[in-house]
Amino acid sequence: MTDTRFLEISQVSKTFETKKGPQTVVEGFDLRIAEGEFVSVVGHSGCGKSTVLSMVAGLASPTHGGIVLAGREVTEPGPDRGVVFQAPCLLPWMTALENVLLGIDQVKPRATKKEKRDIAAHYLGLVGLGEALDKRPAELSQGMRQRVGLARAFALAPKCLLLDEPFGMLDSITRMELQEVLLGIWAEHRITAVMVTHDVDEAILLSDRVVLMTNGPHAHVGEIVSVPFERPRDRHVLLEDSAFYEVRERLIGFLEGQGHHGPPPSTPGNGSVTLPASPVVADITEPPDVELLPPVAGVCVR
Ligand SMILES: Nc1ncnc2c1ncn2[C@@H]1O[C@H](COP(=O)(O)OP(=O)(O)OP(=O)(O)O)[C@@H](O)[C@H]1O
Ligand SMILES: [Mg+2]
Repeated sequence: MTDTRFLEISQVSKTFETKKGPQTVVEGFDLRIAEGEFVSVVGHSGCGKSTVLSMVAGLASPTHGGIVLAGREVTEPGPDRGVVFQAPCLLPWMTALENVLLGIDQVKPRATKKEKRDIAAHYLGLVGLGEALDKRPAELSQGMRQRVGLARAFALAPKCLLLDEPFGMLDSITRMELQEVLLGIWAEHRITAVMVTHDVDEAILLSDRVVLMTNGPHAHVGEIVSVPFERPRDRHVLLEDSAFYEVRERLIGFLEGQGHHGPPPSTPGNGSVTLPASPVVADITEPPDVELLPPVAGVCVR
């Protein structure tokens, strides 16, 4: 049976010591995630999304509260959590295959060289890099590097996947391709996933639930929205479904209600539309003419 409390983030707070004194960025953040669930975290820039994710990753420790993954308290980073950031941090002198192998060495120290190579090649194949195993990062495009990052995370066979704006630096076409790659591998492995994103449509396409964070300081879970669509999902089908626009409206409505206290909205380099300053959302309660839309609308909130 699925463990509905597989990942427990209990009343977590994080206070940073700054020149201006202690700053409590996150306070009373509380969330339970079921095994195999895909949850997105959305909120305005600077509210504390990465802070929460880095505590789950074990890269930072909560000031108060605790995090338990599969019955074990998170106190440090570990290979049971595969982490994917905006940029994949590959070692430049190693090939794609060697970069993925690094993680496998950690989790399967007793496997033979061939077994490890097969695992790395398998995941690189799944992300579409079967022909680029021996290429170094400098020979790969940004999208290809991010694919290596995804392969590296999946190859760990982690209990939980933590993604912090994994496609934030990619153009919209590459972003869509990699969303499909992620959806495909996730559907096969059903790894519990927590993804931070600014892209409301991406959150709906990929997630079972979307967690909306209030603005900081003292940010916490403001609202949780369940995404009602069956899997496997097809973005084109979603765009024709009025329920998609209802969910989207609810997410954007929450974010607009929070106002915006961070940096001014900017158009990200991925071609997505940027909200929330504009009143664009007022028009999206009804499905627009799908023919006029790009394949994914990619409404982003900063
Ligand atoms: N090590 C640190 N020391 C002091 N303040 C920090 C530290 N790390 C983060 N902060 C502050 O905590 C707040 C939340 O930062 P965080 O990076 O978690 O936001 P975010 O929601 O991920 O933003 P974005 O969407 O822009 O990535 C910000 O005000 C940031 O300046
Ligand atoms: Mg962040």
